[in-house]
Amino acid sequence: MQLIDGKAVAAKIKEEIAAEVEIIKKSGGKVPHLAAVLVGHDGGSETYVANKVKACEQVGFKSSLIRYKNDVTEEELLACVDRLNNDKDIDGFIVQLPLPSHISETKVTEAIDYRKDVDGFHPVNVGRMSLGMPCFLSATPSGIVELLKRYNIETKGKHCVVLGRSNIVGKPVSMLLLQKANPGDCTVTICHSRTKNIKEITLQADIIIAALGVPEFLKGDMVKEGAVVIDVGTTRVPNKTTKSGFKLTGDVMFEEVAPKCSYITPVPGGVGPMTIVSLLKNTLLAAKKEVYK
Ligand code: GUN
Repeated sequence: MQLIDGKAVAAKIKEEIAAEVEIIKKSGGKVPHLAAVLVGHDGGSETYVANKVKACEQVGFKSSLIRYKNDVTEEELLACVDRLNNDKDIDGFIVQLPLPSHISETKVTEAIDYRKDVDGFHPVNVGRMSLGMPCFLSATPSGIVELLKRYNIETKGKHCVVLGRSNIVGKPVSMLLLQKANPGDCTVTICHSRTKNIKEITLQADIIIAALGVPEFLKGDMVKEGAVVIDVGTTRVPNKTTKSGFKLTGDVMFEEVAPKCSYITPVPGGVGPMTIVSLLKNTLLAAKKEVYK
């Protein structure tokens, strides 16, 4: 069993990005600038956004954090999106999800200029991704594919079972692994909360991507010998022994599953660090106008 070290791969890619930023700076070019919009004080979102801002600093990007209270109106938030769309200094921006229930996430996402949508959530980017056209790939699917690539894991002709059908992970990663590409060329099965006999399906998988958000859902007896397991789960499970009072828990029962795997990602330190790197990559592409002119 080989552990897929997302933290180490992410650190390496950050070095590559930082080197590019240095070249841009030396040639007098504009340093990439990412803005993040955060509404309210959700613990998870606060941490994610803080990590994104920190990652920008590490690679030499400029970053801006725009905060709103939980009671911000949809109109105010849409006006902010409009300002960021038109701000020439900002190459890309994200609006951290989830948003409070009185604000439509769909409306806000659609209002973002797709050329600055470095999260890859806008319907134009999702559609172009599905068609295999140049676009901003969303962070988690792109991070997963990058890990498979950097570990030279064969995907061609493999049966990949994706657990979860979310718009952020399950659906897009399924599309990416289905593409005629490397990584890609998989036979993909998507399972979700209404799927019957999940175990029968996961036992046939060469690659399992667990993105249900159900802590330790995938047990040892659901995985065949030699499978590749990618754990996308990051549920904060209350835990008295940790300083934060919770333990980040994946969708895979690691102790049972790991001994059967050829490769497996840990939680934390697997897919998580890769998602931020994907966002940085998209911001660099946006600044260089490599996807859209
Ligand atoms: N909430 C959870 N993941 C993400 C992400 O990748 N981007 C944004 N904007 N919100 C999120």
